[in-house]
Amino acid sequence: MVLAGKLFCHSPSIEDLPAIVSLDQRCLGGLWSENGYRREMDSPNSLFRVLSTVDPAPSPVPSTPSIIGIGCLWAILDEAHITVLGIDPPYQGQGLGQWLLLHLLRAARNRQLQHATLEVRASNNPAQKLYQKFGFQQVGCRRRYYSDGEDALLLWRSGLQNTDFLQQLIQWQAPILIRLRRQGWHVSDELCEDGNCSENRMINDSNGFDKN
Ligand SMILES: CC(C)(COP(=O)(O)OP(=O)(O)OC[C@H]1O[C@@H](n2cnc3c(N)ncnc32)[C@H](O)[C@@H]1OP(=O)(O)O)[C@@H](O)C(=O)NCCC(=O)NCCS
Repeated sequence: MVLAGKLFCHSPSIEDLPAIVSLDQRCLGGLWSENGYRREMDSPNSLFRVLSTVDPAPSPVPSTPSIIGIGCLWAILDEAHITVLGIDPPYQGQGLGQWLLLHLLRAARNRQLQHATLEVRASNNPAQKLYQKFGFQQVGCRRRYYSDGEDALLLWRSGLQNTDFLQQLIQWQAPILIRLRRQGWHVSDELCEDGNCSENRMINDSNGFDKN
């Protein structure tokens, strides 16, 4: 298995669905069905992104989608509810989870959302550490939230529309890119979020971003 190469973050297409469901089963234990993910693709209130090793641009030669990360949030009022974040197990620990979360937060900001929130298993230390790095704080606990009786921690991050949050996105992006590139990833970030490209350019330009 190739563990590095070209990396794209983009909205998924219908052709990606089987790979998405398969990845969900491998790293989220079968959270949503194919219909569930299809609904997310169709919903105007969902921001759904995948990390892929295949260029999503139309190509005369159809290629097999290779999805290695999935992330989704729901826009509810001025809140981004992060519902899914998963990296394929062989690809974990390289910085890809951070990269995907960065994309989701940037998409949430571009969507004019103010806050980001999610539930995480009390035992899920890697995910809690990841969210802490991006300024999420625990604001509550939902007792026996999961079907197996485990508690959920409620995490919260405000200030997505603040100017300093944009600066933080830029600061976070640089070391993640360096780390990914060191591991052999060619990172692409060509897609605009919801027609608003200005922040993407700002983030990209500030780091001499290459579009391989
Ligand atoms: C949580 C998850 C998305 C992280 O993705 P990843 O690509 O492995 O994470 P990264 O390599 O980007 O690491 C980001 C940070 O997360 C934390 N982290 C990641 N793996 C960790 C581990 N095994 N132990 C402790 N912290 C860990 C660290 O703070 C890390 O930053 P650092 O490497 O600079 O120390 C991934 O482990 C996953 O898919 N887990 C299963 C699904 C899941 O639990 N999703 C979250 C539901 S809320």
